[in-house]
Amino acid sequence: MADVSVIGAQWGDEGKGKLVDWLSAKADVVVRFQGGHNAGHTLVIDGKVYKLSLLPSGIVRDGKVSIIGNGVVVDPWALAAEIKKLKGQGVHITPVNLLIAENAPLILPLHGELDTIREGAAKDADKIGTTKRGIGPAYEDKVGRRAIRIIDLAHPETLAAKVNVLLNHHNALRRGLGVAEIAADELLAQLKEISKEVLPFAAPVWKVLHDAKKAGKRILFEGAQGVLLDVDHGTYPFVTSSNTVAGQAAAGSGLGPDAIDYVLGIVKAYTTRVGEGPFPTEDQGPDGQMLGERGHEFGTVTGRQRRCGWFDAVLVRQTLKVSGVSGVALTKLDVLDGFEKLKVCTGYKIGDVVYDYFPAGQDAQAKVEPIYEEMDGWSGSTAGARSWADLPAEAVKYVRRIEELLECPIALVSTSPEREDVILMKDPFEG
Ligand code: IMP
Repeated sequence: MADVSVIGAQWGDEGKGKLVDWLSAKADVVVRFQGGHNAGHTLVIDGKVYKLSLLPSGIVRDGKVSIIGNGVVVDPWALAAEIKKLKGQGVHITPVNLLIAENAPLILPLHGELDTIREGAAKDADKIGTTKRGIGPAYEDKVGRRAIRIIDLAHPETLAAKVNVLLNHHNALRRGLGVAEIAADELLAQLKEISKEVLPFAAPVWKVLHDAKKAGKRILFEGAQGVLLDVDHGTYPFVTSSNTVAGQAAAGSGLGPDAIDYVLGIVKAYTTRVGEGPFPTEDQGPDGQMLGERGHEFGTVTGRQRRCGWFDAVLVRQTLKVSGVSGVALTKLDVLDGFEKLKVCTGYKIGDVVYDYFPAGQDAQAKVEPIYEEMDGWSGSTAGARSWADLPAEAVKYVRRIEELLECPIALVSTSPEREDVILMKDPFEG
């Protein structure tokens, strides 16, 4: 397989970092295709800890090309800070190993401010629980055809007019919200200053990717967030503002639909969610608390405590289908060690009506009650297992039952944060 796309199949935080790192070691090119610096993951390589938010995982490895595709919203100040931090850790970042799509839209300070104001002003039930990084407002401007894009920074002669169009919109909003308007010349000066840090990396990445594909290079597409946060297929409106499904890997980087050979869906052996919105199997009792403590369920970007609950096979079966997932990587199985009983959601009910999928309506999504199947837990440990023989019999049963409910093969099981602790059935890059 030349090209692999990795996506989170729940609400994000499925443990993609470890697997993306493992796969990026085998890839020639690593591509981010959606989201922005709302994502966050930690890589541990040779004992060194790297925290990435916007840069593709390939950046910390020599000899890889890292690409930020047009589907990403780029905060140039966050980008410059991340580059500086990584360079301080000894990572080489040059226009040879980092390329940013010329047509990627920018996140500006006014976007973060608007995100924060809106979240602050929303009534509790209407809060999305965003990362306040300006992601939503920046995508709104992209779709509204008034975004400033990377390439615009290279053309001061037309940038002023673009900034005026953008500010006509934003200053009207700001007047309505009672916050100070933004002066065009100040924003232009800020953009001029930061453009020096970003423009050297700007490139027609669609072309670079086509050439890489033609040359038989291995390309890894690295998804951020999870499919349940997809703006179309997720728990709308409690979602992020981009498409997180694997199909976006093509559109968000400038390749055709045949770009991806294998889609690896990362699935945690239980469920977590950050932010607001429906979560049918959430457990606010001692079991949920234990999952959170044992799984260290705190957000990488915002430090927020994640909501925790049982495995929801209905939701994941659906996300695997809408993303065309070829195989599943089941992660954090070891967090379930020691639970006497485990629950798996196999359907939903609203009154007498049973659903074998997650209904689309906001009201229905809030109302569904999970139908659970109970399974025996295990007293032994799965931590660090590298073969089926290392797993307690009940753990094997749990994994096999999940595979059956998901109607998708499990390609690998991850049993600890260590890179080698994996039970591998299929290597996505190996045919
Ligand atoms: P936004 O992407 O900042 O607009 O936030 C929208 C929703 O997506 C909120 O519920 C966030 O908590 C969630 N979200 C965004 N990025 C991540 C992530 O990397 N992991 C988990 N949740 C995320």
